Order: sequence, then structure tokens, then C-alpha cells
Amino acid sequence: MSFLDIEIDRTTSHCEKWNKYKNQDIIPAWVADMDFKAPQPVIDALLKRVEHGIFGYTGMDDETYKAVINFIKRHHNWEIKKEWIVWMDGVIPGINITCRMLEKEDEVVTTTPIYPHFVTATKNTNKTLIQITMKEIKNRWSIDFDELENKITPKSKLFILCNPYNPGGTVFSKDELKKLGNLCVKYDMLICSDEIHADLVINEQAKHIPIASINDEFAKRTITLMAPSKTFNIAGLQSSFAIIADKKLRVRFEKNLRGLGGGINLLAITATKTAYKDGDKWLSELKNYLRENLKLVENFVKNNKKLKMLSCDATYLAWIDCSKLDAKDPYELFLSHGVGLSEGERFGNNDFIRLNFGTTKKNLIQILNKMQKAIDSQ
Ligand SMILES: Cc1ncc(COP(=O)(O)O)c(C=O)c1O
Repeated sequence: MSFLDIEIDRTTSHCEKWNKYKNQDIIPAWVADMDFKAPQPVIDALLKRVEHGIFGYTGMDDETYKAVINFIKRHHNWEIKKEWIVWMDGVIPGINITCRMLEKEDEVVTTTPIYPHFVTATKNTNKTLIQITMKEIKNRWSIDFDELENKITPKSKLFILCNPYNPGGTVFSKDELKKLGNLCVKYDMLICSDEIHADLVINEQAKHIPIASINDEFAKRTITLMAPSKTFNIAGLQSSFAIIADKKLRVRFEKNLRGLGGGINLLAITATKTAYKDGDKWLSELKNYLRENLKLVENFVKNNKKLKMLSCDATYLAWIDCSKLDAKDPYELFLSHGVGLSEGERFGNNDFIRLNFGTTKKNLIQILNKMQKAIDSQ
């Protein structure tokens, strides 16, 4: 038995995921957080900090910077500098701030389906959004570079990339990232690279590459967004950061952040520092566990000829094609049989559902059994 098998009641903890269906016979498998306790060193460090008892204005320390810099070097072979880091209380604010940096008439380009807050950020800032439909190539979701080049206009000024890709689970290869980066150079577009899932690569053949680490030309135009929140299951502590190598671009970003927050709170600092320093062992066990969970999901899909799923390299989110089911709305079908998934429509395709498999095996098996009953009921 793994420590990740321990079931914890989350309904008494302001938990968005479980409270959505509180007191209903529905198992939640939607929003992207996991049902696992954070690494013990993180919990111990937070307890110690809380016991200190004074929670005044707090500043960032060198040790936390060092923990981030070393973690990124160790896991992604990318050498970043302290001054490139801009702290924020979420990756979503980072995407919104990037959109605010643009001029009124500028267009934003991204893929579809996509994590909904990419679309929301462009709506919040009144930007025109161009979306490139993700294509199935060799059993994985890939960018259609011809469609991308055809759709770019002289007003296109920003590409928002999700790597690893939510909802499809792709870890983009160096070749794909080079193609994308070269197009952004050719058409003089900024890149906002949301890499929040970078540490959760579970396909042992795949390797996460930060697009800004490929060459100086890409680094110069890229705002990379990272966080310990998905990696160590500490999203409620709200810690994240942008990495911006180019000084001019960084100053533009910081100017748009000014007065709206920035910085992270003292518990977020404590958790971030400890997780990046002492969380590797926990992370490695987590990835093994998620790999086994993914197998359960893949077998379930294989055994149901009306379902389809492409290779999922990373994240704990399965993007499942339900178009062959005789259901008007697959989300409703599974909900009526006791499973609360994410609606594909929120990501841009209502033939799909997204299943969060970041939970105990026991719970995942219950979820899959209920989903099976839903399919058999048709
Ligand atoms: C791709 C992506 N970006 C950003 C976020 C949310 O980031 P944050 O909670 O730091 O704002 C998520 C959460 O699911 C995500 O999947």
C-alpha cells in the first residue's frame, strides 16, 4: 500500500472539488487538484511557521529563489537567474497580465480545445482570439502548423501555449516547440508559455522542455508561467511565478502587475521553498502512482469501443472522446450515474469529457465502475 492510497475526507476543508456535489451521491472528478496530502516536509514546515504565531508583512528570501532555480535546473535542465522571476499568486493572473500588455487592436492566438482561462483572459481584456484546432497525429494531440501559419494576421501579437497540454496531455517535442517558436519569431509574436503541468510528465519516453530554454531568440519573447501548485497539490496556497529573461519584457509585465498584488503570502513562501527543496521523493512516488492510475483509465477506454483517448504524456487529466456514445451530453450521462467530470464544452468540444485521475485507486475504480454503468445503461 502506498501513502497515496490513504483516503481523506475533504468536505470539511473549503474544498471546491468535493463541495460541488456535497450530500449528493456523486463522486467529483473535475477541477485539477488531487486527493493526496502534500509532501510531509511541506506540512511540517507550514506547522512550524504557523506555530511562530506572527503573520506580519513578509518578504521573499534568497533561499526560496535558490530552491526554485535549483529545482528547474535539476528537473528541466534550464538555468534561470533570480532576477528573471516575478512572483504572483496564480498562473491565471499571469495569463491575464500578459493579455493586458497588448495594444487594443492586437490579436491573441492559441489552440482549441484549451484550458478555459486562456479564452477568459482574452475576453477580460477585449482581445480578438484566434484558435487553431488541435490535430490527432500519431495517436497524440498536436498543433497544426499549417493552420497556425494560415491564421496568423499582422495583428497577431501573442501565442498562448499550454505545455504540457491541458486538456490533451501532450508534452510537446523539441521539434514542435522549435516550429512554434520559429513562427513566433517570423511574425514577431510574444509567447506566453503556461508550463504549470511541467513537473507531471508520466510518460517515461517524454521530456518537458521549456520553450524559452531552446534558444535566446525564443527566450527574448517568452513569458514562462510555472508553479508548485499542481506538482505538490498545494493550489490553495496560491504560489506561482513568471520567468522572463528579457529585461524590457519583464518591466512591461511588472508594470501591468503593479498595484494589483504580485508577491506571494508567507505560507505560500514556506510551502514553495520546502516543496522545491525536499519534495523530489514524494514527486517521484506520485508520478509512479499516476502512471498506474492512467493505465486503469486507458484500459477502461480500450474496453469501451465507443470511447477514445489519445496518448496522455502528462498531467492527471484524461481527455476522453465520447462522440460515439448515444448521449446528447456525455457530461450529463455520467453525472446521472454518479460521476462529476469536467464538461468538454468548457474546453471547446462538447463531445468530450475530462476525467481527473489524481485520486486514490479505490476512488478511481469506483468512478470507472459508475462510468461503466452509465455506458451500459444506453
Ligand atoms: C493549464 C493551467 N493553467 C493554469 C491553471 C490554474 O493556475 P492557478 O491556480 O495558479 O491560477 C490550471 C489549473 O488547472 C491549468 O491547468
